[in-house]
Amino acid sequence: MVLKKSSVILCSAFLFVAWNALLLLYLWGRPPIGRLGEGGGAEPGGQEEWGLSRDRAGHSNLAEEMIRLADEVEIQLDTQKKLLKQIESHRAVWAQQKTPGPNLNKPTIPILVIACDRVTVKRSLDKLIQYRPSAELFPIIVSQDCGHSETARVIGSYGNQVTHIRQPDLSDIRVRPEHRKFQGYYKISRHYRWALNQVFNTFSQSTVVIVEDDLEVAPDFFEYFRALYPILRSDASLWCVSAWNDNGRDALVDSSRAKLLYRTDFFPGLGWMLLKELWEELEPKWPSAFWDDWMRQPEQRKDRSCIRPEISRTITFGRKGVSLGQFFDQYLRYIKLNTEFVPFTKQNLSYLLKEHYDETFVREVYSATLVKMEDLQKGGALRSPGPYRVQYSSRDSFKVFARNLGVMDDLKSGVPRTGYRGVVSFHHRGRRVFLAPPEGWTHYDVSWS
Ligand SMILES: *[C@@H]1O[C@H](CO)[C@@H](O)[C@H](O)[C@H]1NC(C)=O
Repeated sequence: MVLKKSSVILCSAFLFVAWNALLLLYLWGRPPIGRLGEGGGAEPGGQEEWGLSRDRAGHSNLAEEMIRLADEVEIQLDTQKKLLKQIESHRAVWAQQKTPGPNLNKPTIPILVIACDRVTVKRSLDKLIQYRPSAELFPIIVSQDCGHSETARVIGSYGNQVTHIRQPDLSDIRVRPEHRKFQGYYKISRHYRWALNQVFNTFSQSTVVIVEDDLEVAPDFFEYFRALYPILRSDASLWCVSAWNDNGRDALVDSSRAKLLYRTDFFPGLGWMLLKELWEELEPKWPSAFWDDWMRQPEQRKDRSCIRPEISRTITFGRKGVSLGQFFDQYLRYIKLNTEFVPFTKQNLSYLLKEHYDETFVREVYSATLVKMEDLQKGGALRSPGPYRVQYSSRDSFKVFARNLGVMDDLKSGVPRTGYRGVVSFHHRGRRVFLAPPEGWTHYDVSWS
C-alpha cells in the first residue's frame, strides 16, 4: 500500500511537470504575437494559415492577442493550481504511511466528516479546525454525498485544511414500497460504507473518528480521542469510543466532573472512533439502511462496549435531519457540551479496561443506598449526598422510572441508552443515581424494546 501510494504521488508529480513542459513548448512554438489570425480564436493549424494571417495582421491585433494569451495562461495556471491543491490535500492523509502500523503514542487519527446537503457543515468544520492541535495527527476528510453544489463550495473554501472526497454513486436506491419514505436512510448507509472504505482502503488509515455534518465538538474533543485510542486498542471487549452522552442534558450530568468517563453497552454514535479491524468485520455484512440500530443488535455488538463521557464532547445543532426533527426538539437540543479542557492524555485511563472497571463499577452501584422512586422524587427525605440506587426488574418498570427521572426510556436489543450491565448512571437533583437491575445481572433480554 505504501508503495502504491507513493507511486500515485510520483505519477501526479510527473504529470504536473509534463504538463508544464508541454505548455512551455506550446507557447515557444507559437508564432510571434500579432501574426495569429482573427479567425474565430481557433489555434493556428499550420504554416499556410500563419502566412495568410501575416498580411492581414495589423498592429491593432497586438493588444487583443496579448489579452487572449494572458487569459489562456491564467486558465492553465488555474488548472495547475487545482492539481497541486489536490496533491497537497491528499498528502496530509497519505503522510502517515511513512510509519506503517499503529503508533500508540502519536497515532494518526483521521476525522471523517459525513456531509450531504447542509451548508451548516461549516459550523462543524470551523470548530474542528479551531480545536485541532495538529493537522498531521488529525487529518480531516470530508466525505460528501448528495452532490449539493452549495455545500461542495463551502467545503472547498477550506482549501487544503481538509480533504474533500465525493461519494460517486448518487442514484436512487431500490427499496421495497413501504420503505420508500426511508430512502434517506439507505443513502446514508451507502455513504458510510463508501466513506469508511475510502478511509481504510484508499487512505490506508488504521482508525477513524466519524463526525456528522450537524455536530459541534468540544475543546478537548481531540485530546479525548487521542487519550482513548490506546485503551480501545488494548481491550478487545471495547469496540468504540464515543464523544456522546445520550443522557447528557444539563440537569442529568455532574458538571463538576468533566473528566468522568464510563463504559456503556449502548452504541452511542454521534462522534465515535473505531479501528480498522472492526470495519473489516462489519463491512462485508454492512446493512443497506438503519446502520446504527443494526450495530446495536447482539449479532454485531457481540457483548462489546464503548467508552462515553459524563459530559458530551459533541452536540448536535441540526434539526433538518432524515427524521430527527421531533427527537431533536425533545432531547438532543438540551445536551450540554463540555467547555472545560480535560488533559486526558496526562491521565491514567486504565481504570476503563474491563478487567479493572467491572468490579469497581458493580461494587459502587450495589453499595449505593437502595431507595424507592417516591423517596427520590420527594428529595427532602434523603439526607445523604448519595449515591442512590433505584431498582427496576421489568421492561415496564424501567420505562416508568426512566420517564419519571427524565432519562431516555428506550431500549435497543434490550440495552437502555447509556446502560452498562443494565445500569443507567446519571445525576438527579445534585445526587448520583443508578437506575439498576437487581444484583447479579448476567445478560440483557433482547425482547425488551
Ligand atoms: C493506572 O491505573 C491502574 C488501575 O486502574 C493501575 O493498576 C496502574 O498501576 C496505574 N498505572 C500507573 C502508571 O499509575
